[in-house]
Amino acid sequence: MRRWRPDRLAARFALLLTAALLAANLAALGLLALERDRLEGRARDEAVLARLLAVAPLMDGAADATRARLAEGLSRRGLRVRIDDRPAVAPDAGDRRTRRLRTRVEAALEGRALRLAPASARGGPAASLALSDPPGWLNATWRGGPPPRRGEAWPVVLLLALGLAATLAVGLAFVRQLTRPLGALAAAARAAGRGDRAVRVPEDGARELREAAAAFNDMQARIARADAERMRLVAALGHDLRTPITSLRIRAEMLEEAGGETGAEAAAMGDTLREMEVMADGLLAFARGEGEAEAPERIDLAPWLGRLAAARGAAVGDMAAVAAQARPVALGRAVGNLVDNALRYAGGATLRLDREGAEAVIAVEDDGPGIPPERLGEMTEPFRRGEASRGRDTGGAGLGLAIARAVAEAHGGALRLRNRAGGGLAAEIRLPAEADGA
Ligand SMILES: Nc1ncnc2c1ncn2[C@@H]1O[C@H](COP(=O)(O)OP(=O)(O)OP(=O)(O)O)[C@@H](O)[C@H]1O
Ligand SMILES: [Mg+2]
Repeated sequence: MRRWRPDRLAARFALLLTAALLAANLAALGLLALERDRLEGRARDEAVLARLLAVAPLMDGAADATRARLAEGLSRRGLRVRIDDRPAVAPDAGDRRTRRLRTRVEAALEGRALRLAPASARGGPAASLALSDPPGWLNATWRGGPPPRRGEAWPVVLLLALGLAATLAVGLAFVRQLTRPLGALAAAARAAGRGDRAVRVPEDGARELREAAAAFNDMQARIARADAERMRLVAALGHDLRTPITSLRIRAEMLEEAGGETGAEAAAMGDTLREMEVMADGLLAFARGEGEAEAPERIDLAPWLGRLAAARGAAVGDMAAVAAQARPVALGRAVGNLVDNALRYAGGATLRLDREGAEAVIAVEDDGPGIPPERLGEMTEPFRRGEASRGRDTGGAGLGLAIARAVAEAHGGALRLRNRAGGGLAAEIRLPAEADGA
């Protein structure tokens, strides 16, 4: 139903303004035309009467032939004059317009009888003027409507177009002033939605815009504070749980040494407690990573990844030349977690770097067992682990992928997991890349 409405604010405004200006100007033009016709009609009526009144004295006392010749001389386009025995206009004919006309020519009548009739559907206005010696009537009718006009439309159209162009220019500049901060606000809100707590919008422009920007900035600050508070809580939890768990584990190990059925029970308990220890450590690491307020910087990804691969013992595959704005410590932890997983579950990792459109794609590939397709989605949730990591030697907290995903999303990117065609897992961190040559 609202299909016809343009999408952009500027276009809507231009349309509304054009419609309003056209309507107002057409109405004004119409009124002006009516007024002009009225004035012109009045002037013509007076001119005709003045001519009749000038000739009438010459007809008084003149012969029929002279009268006829004079009448013929008066007649012209749009004015018909005849000499008759009777008046063509009834005595009581007349309206406001004719009454006014009579008062304006009253002085020139000098007692001569004049009958006036207004323009009607049958024809233009008419007048009958009495003649004497012999008595007779000078009957005249003339055209009432305005004479046809030509070639007058273009100045009006030109003026209208100029007025419209000027108003639109001013109006669109105004709308631009309005939409530019709105666009910035939308972009900032999108970045905030992706988890960027550092983004702020400038608080300038008109009051309403300043207020919207201030409200957004305020919201960002509040969320950042709440985030930090939550992370402090998680860290405290991880830290405070660790001590009692460790003491329980040590006691379980002591019991284990006693052997027998109790010892076997205690060994199982010890395993569970070790697992809980790792989880508490993980909580701490998670909270520490998230809590850090690190400034993003421009990273030339290929050499940076090369150094990371060398430090972690990963192989290096194809590397495209791509740069991105990123927080190096956080991104290093994210990629490091992926490399650790590949080394732990597949025994080897290969790092690749690619550019796909506006995205930098950091891929960590391996030739291991991969992840069952139905579990690919859930593995990035915190504390999710596969069977492979249940064993004692490989056991982790199940936070590595969750951290990598959180970091990628905080950079405005994403973490993708997929099983490679030839077997093994490919874990990709996709980030907004800097424009080429930047
Ligand atoms: N490269 C991989 N190959 C096969 N399975 C993987 C791979 N990477 C992750 N997984 C599976 O995904 C699960 C979740 O990985 P994640 O890194 O989140 O946790 P984790 O490695 O178990 O523990 P943490 O990283 O916290 O020490 C792992 O337990 C493992 O089962
Ligand atoms: Mg891991």
